[in-house]
Amino acid sequence: MDAILVKGGRALNGEIRVSGAKNAALPMLAASLLAGGKFKFSNVPDLKDIETIRQLLSTMGAEVDRQGDSVHIDTRNVENFEAPYDLVRKMRASVLVLGPLLARLKRARVSLPGGCAIGARPINMHLEGLSRLGARITLEHGYVEAQADRLTGDEIFFDVPTVTGTENLMMAAVLANGTTVLRNAAREPEILALAEMLNLMGADVSGAGSPVITIRGVDRLAPVSARIIPDRIEAGTYMVAAALTCGTIRITDAEPDHLKAVISKLRETGAKITVKQDAITVTGKRPIHSVDIKTLPYPGFPTDMQAQFMVLMSVANGLSVISETIFENRFIHVLELQRMGADIQVSGNHAMVKGIEKLSGAPVMASDLRASASLVLAGLVAEGTTQISRVYHLDRGYESIEEKFRKLGANIERVPESSS
Ligand code: EPU
Repeated sequence: MDAILVKGGRALNGEIRVSGAKNAALPMLAASLLAGGKFKFSNVPDLKDIETIRQLLSTMGAEVDRQGDSVHIDTRNVENFEAPYDLVRKMRASVLVLGPLLARLKRARVSLPGGCAIGARPINMHLEGLSRLGARITLEHGYVEAQADRLTGDEIFFDVPTVTGTENLMMAAVLANGTTVLRNAAREPEILALAEMLNLMGADVSGAGSPVITIRGVDRLAPVSARIIPDRIEAGTYMVAAALTCGTIRITDAEPDHLKAVISKLRETGAKITVKQDAITVTGKRPIHSVDIKTLPYPGFPTDMQAQFMVLMSVANGLSVISETIFENRFIHVLELQRMGADIQVSGNHAMVKGIEKLSGAPVMASDLRASASLVLAGLVAEGTTQISRVYHLDRGYESIEEKFRKLGANIERVPESSS
């Protein structure tokens, strides 16, 4: 297993290009199961999670071929309707094949994802929604089995907005008989990107991006070519890097409209941000002002940026209260940041962060994807060397992270864990 070594203290300056969004690519690649034929996806990030969905689609009978940042998928021979435990346990988003398999093959058998570092993350709303559309659902031997000759449209009300739940139900409903209305749906840009792809395929989805999505079922769908939207969380992570290290980073191929909450909070901390079409330039300045943050479903402040912002607040000039309202256990990075000297007290779903002058480099352990990114950021401003273990979490969601940071002037390298 590899570790990442970061020597802190350098201001990061320069330009980097944002990769395609992991959380848009995963549902869009899964949606290729809905029609037999040849799909082409461009701007697909080269990540472990993309490799996992590739393996998953292959076990179902799809032919998947990557050429550069394009992925070609031929779904004509998809026959297998099972998502095995070995793949689902690597990546919870594997559950995204449930809706499309059920719609196309009338049957799906998907391993239950089990526990997760950041929270319980059940899939009850996915299953309740599918059963409202007429699926017979059974849970046996750790697998969810769903069957329906043809799903029938209905009205579904989500207790709380769920991103992959909304995506799964949208994909199940596009081939259903009649109209489905999803209420209190998630509004993330990735949902809109999926809806646009489904409509290109011949589906009739309206309202995506708002809390009410209407899906009129159609009889068949056709394969398409689609481009993956920019990764707003990757862009946000590099924006925090500029603010934190007091450098100037120009982030290109980004979608500033998807980052309004992050841009607004970063400006409050004193960072200077200019936005030009698809480029965002962030210049960090001291002192960094403390601000409070509350994570919320889109368009609120994203939970996937909470850990990175906490690092910024840990060297700000006052007290910041960070409230996590999406996942109940998403403060695991706090213990590692404390080992680097951060002054953070956690009480329930609130973290009180008292800014200090300097973090101090230490060996730390990555626990989930965004926590890992926060530890790299912490290493960039810490005094001395930070060694981050278990970096496979980072490889799930950040393309070429050391190369991108090195290009900006960071002293960062990947080393085999044993020799480090
Ligand atoms: N929830 C339920 N029941 C369900 C579904 C969700 O109780 O059936 C709860 C969850 O436990 C959570 C809340 O609803 O408390 C919202 O979870 P959501 O379903 O929206 O999360 P998700 O779809 O599993 C996606 C992203 C996550 C991101 C969250 C929140 C993908 C593949 N994953 O997860 O991304 O944090 O939405 O925005 O889109 C990441 O990229 O690092 C990551 C974790």
